[in-house]
Amino acid sequence: MISTNIAELLNQQITNEQFAAQYYLSMSAWFYARDLDGIANYFRVQSKEELMHADKMFDYLNDVGAPIIMGTIEKPPHEFSSSTEIFIKALEHERLVTKSIFNILKNANDEGDFATVSFLQWFVTEQIEEEASASQLVTKIKMVSENPSALYLFDQELAQRVFLPTEGN
Ligand code: FEO
Repeated sequence: MISTNIAELLNQQITNEQFAAQYYLSMSAWFYARDLDGIANYFRVQSKEELMHADKMFDYLNDVGAPIIMGTIEKPPHEFSSSTEIFIKALEHERLVTKSIFNILKNANDEGDFATVSFLQWFVTEQIEEEASASQLVTKIKMVSENPSALYLFDQELAQRVFLPTEGN
């Protein structure tokens, strides 16, 4: 059994991940509305990944017999000024998620809750990848956003992304 503090932090993180899923869907919709379906696909897949992250935490709480209490998911922004702004906001959001995961990890470590420390290792690795990929996309969108031919190719590239649920195992 984990402490009430860790259970609350993990429950809150489930809501954070679900908010991230909503946020990325909102970004996806912005690109669909501009016929950039490849970039829209990228954010849609990203949204599914966030739900998978929430599911992993849900399963963990269930495995350790902790209460699972669903929180309120805030409405995400839906107005953005440019493609570049969206990619920057996505990177900023990933950094926030990393901070939040580290905070739970620190609490678990301080409490000697090594089961949760071990569980969260997967998320630490995942956040390194998520931040690296979000950062690379900020660089790329800055290169291509003002060039329609380059933007077309970038859109084609991101159309290739598929959701692989097994990556979460
Ligand atoms: Fe669940 Fe993108 O962090």
